[in-house]
Amino acid sequence: MPNTPTELPLTTSDDADHPQVTSDEIRVMVERFYEHARDDELLGPIFAQRVDDWDTHYDTMTRFWSSAVLRAGTYSGRPIEKHRIEGLTTQHFVNWVERFSDVVTQEFGPERSAVFIELSKRMAASIAMRIGIGGVDQALAKPA
Ligand code: HEM
Repeated sequence: MPNTPTELPLTTSDDADHPQVTSDEIRVMVERFYEHARDDELLGPIFAQRVDDWDTHYDTMTRFWSSAVLRAGTYSGRPIEKHRIEGLTTQHFVNWVERFSDVVTQEFGPERSAVFIELSKRMAASIAMRIGIGGVDQALAKPA
């Protein structure tokens, strides 16, 4: 089969899967998300205990999402290890994804947020599973 494309067209405007966001917009969304997450009764105490430097965390998460969605290649880290947190439950992950979905939809609108929401669900289920917490994918598959 000649000319099989090996790379996806990541920047064309007619690529429906590609959200037209910039890493600056991602940074703003990330900050808004953690403002909300810090108010969450389950998540708030964990972030309060474990995040010393918010600016650095915002930078890390901006690189993480830019790499995931824009293929920016700016994130390298060990996200699983950071989540081996005593007392985490399925519900923590459900709350995380709900908060994230709300904020990203508010910031980017329904179309541009779709890929972020999809990825966040997959990553929440995958992180949870790898630290021994099951049931996240089923919980997230239920209609709201
Ligand atoms: C139960 C829900 C979650 C909790 C309580 C949680 C909590 C945390 C904490 C405490 C950190 C460390 C921050 C620091 O070192 O300053 C962290 C880092 C991180 N989290 Fe989460 N998180 C959750 C879910 C998620 C999900 C669903 C994702 C992905 C979509 C995610 C992605 C990350 C990444 C990329 C880092 C940075 C790791 C690094 O240092 O490279 N987290 N999280």
